Amino acid sequence: MKTVEMKLASYFAAFASLFLCCGSGTVADLDLDEQALLQFSATVPHGRKLNWSPATPVCTSWVGINCTKDGSRVIALHLPGVGLHGQIPANTLGKLDALMILSLRSNRLSGNLPSDVLSLSTLRYVYLQLNNFSGDIPSSLPPSLDFLDLTFNSLTGNIPTAIQNLTNLTGLNLQNNSLTGPIPNFSLPRLRLLNLSYNHLNGSVPSSFQKFPASSFVGNHICGPPLNQCLTISPSPSPSPTNFPPPTVPENPRRDSHKKLSIGAIIAIGVTGSALVFFLLLILVLSCLKKKRYQGGALTSKVKGGRSEKPKEDFGSEVQEAEKNKLVFFEGCSYNFDLEDLLRASAEVLGKGSYGTTYKAILEEGITVV
Ligand SMILES: *[C@@H]1O[C@H](CO)[C@@H](O)[C@H](O)[C@H]1NC(C)=O
Ligand SMILES: *[C@@H]1O[C@H](CO)[C@@H](O)[C@H](O)[C@H]1NC(C)=O
Ligand SMILES: *[C@@H]1O[C@H](CO)[C@@H](O)[C@H](O)[C@H]1NC(C)=O
Ligand SMILES: *[C@@H]1O[C@H](CO)[C@@H](O)[C@H](O)[C@H]1NC(C)=O
Ligand SMILES: *[C@@H]1O[C@H](CO)[C@@H](O)[C@H](O)[C@H]1NC(C)=O
Ligand SMILES: *[C@@H]1O[C@H](CO)[C@@H](O)[C@H](O)[C@H]1NC(C)=O
Ligand SMILES: *[C@@H]1O[C@H](CO)[C@@H](O)[C@H](O)[C@H]1NC(C)=O
Ligand SMILES: *[C@@H]1O[C@H](CO)[C@@H](O)[C@H](O)[C@H]1NC(C)=O
Repeated sequence: MKTVEMKLASYFAAFASLFLCCGSGTVADLDLDEQALLQFSATVPHGRKLNWSPATPVCTSWVGINCTKDGSRVIALHLPGVGLHGQIPANTLGKLDALMILSLRSNRLSGNLPSDVLSLSTLRYVYLQLNNFSGDIPSSLPPSLDFLDLTFNSLTGNIPTAIQNLTNLTGLNLQNNSLTGPIPNFSLPRLRLLNLSYNHLNGSVPSSFQKFPASSFVGNHICGPPLNQCLTISPSPSPSPTNFPPPTVPENPRRDSHKKLSIGAIIAIGVTGSALVFFLLLILVLSCLKKKRYQGGALTSKVKGGRSEKPKEDFGSEVQEAEKNKLVFFEGCSYNFDLEDLLRASAEVLGKGSYGTTYKAILEEGITVV
């Protein structure tokens, strides 16, 4: 007991001295961070339970939280795929004003992007991909941004020109949204990763971005290098002033026509193929029937051997022999025999067709079946 008390006392002393030497500011700041996080977890529904409790220390126990080395501020929030859904309310995460890393990817967050969070002047890495955020990208983003990933959301509007001010940006991923308008001519010297694919952007790729591969821009109404040449630019050689509407999808028209052609070809091949197969089958059936008719009664005596072999192949000697020997009768049938009876009976081949062989069997009771 004594030792525990002493330990507690020394902890308290250490805590007090920390408090005194560093000033009340840092602890108060961490306190505010904690409040902001608790507010966030209380208002945003999430699938998996977070272990965020006021009773445990934020920096060392809370899942998804990283602090500064001295444990005075929250600098990173990683909550990927924890089933967060709904909107991020203002004045929750937006109060984490030492935050550098924000990762809320692969959740079901919706509504506008949290503009107060995305204007935190310390923010460097933002991963909000694979949610359902809608609306515009905020027009003011912090110049500290290093990586911005907003892919696979439902964002609309233009690419904000303010991105030009993000001189430290090394990655910008905006693919698979619904962004419109032109691609601004940004000069971002550190940019290494760029993906604007699968939006509704139009115009051409500005000179500053032409060093990026075509796959950074596909799935838009964009033409010119590094993509295919624009269809709209190609001069109409026809002398007549046609009133065709301008092509609405200039990007990669070849692929489209190719697709249509191949679908047509597939249908044609399918139709001719099945017709051919059908005729072959018809000829086979007809020739078989003819043969049988000519050979007629000559076959009957030979059937016995074949007959006992055939069913054995079909109904192999497995455990559920009895089940297999059961025959299924149509409703209203009063017959009562099984496969064994059928095999014991004398039988003759009536004919062979495309569905198999037809036997005529006379059972012991004198019943004749086909
Ligand atoms: C965050 O903290 C966890 C442990 O709580 C650690 O494993 C991880 O490396 C830290 N991440 C960063 C970026 O500091
Ligand atoms: C995304 O949000 C839009 C409304 O903004 C809604 O119509 C759509 O169903 C949502 N999609 C998913 C997958 O939740
Ligand atoms: C950009 O990065 C450099 C070094 O990585 C850093 O010194 C500078 O403060 C950053 N700029 C901004 C606006 O954060
Ligand atoms: C870019 O930054 C400059 C000064 O840092 C500022 O005057 C300007 O308004 C910013 N541009 C945008 C679009 O935010
Ligand atoms: C992006 O969106 C486009 C168009 O909706 C789609 O064809 C493509 O498969 C998506 N990309 C991925 C990786 O799912
Ligand atoms: C785009 O920006 C680059 C570099 O800043 C510049 O050289 C070029 O002239 C600009 N192009 C246009 C079309 O504004
Ligand atoms: C891009 O689309 C907008 C409307 O969607 C249109 O006003 C504009 O002229 C288009 N720009 C180009 C270069 O096609
Ligand atoms: C951009 O994203 C699209 C769709 O997710 C992908 O197919 C393409 O390879 C990406 N391009 C680059 C350069 O990352």
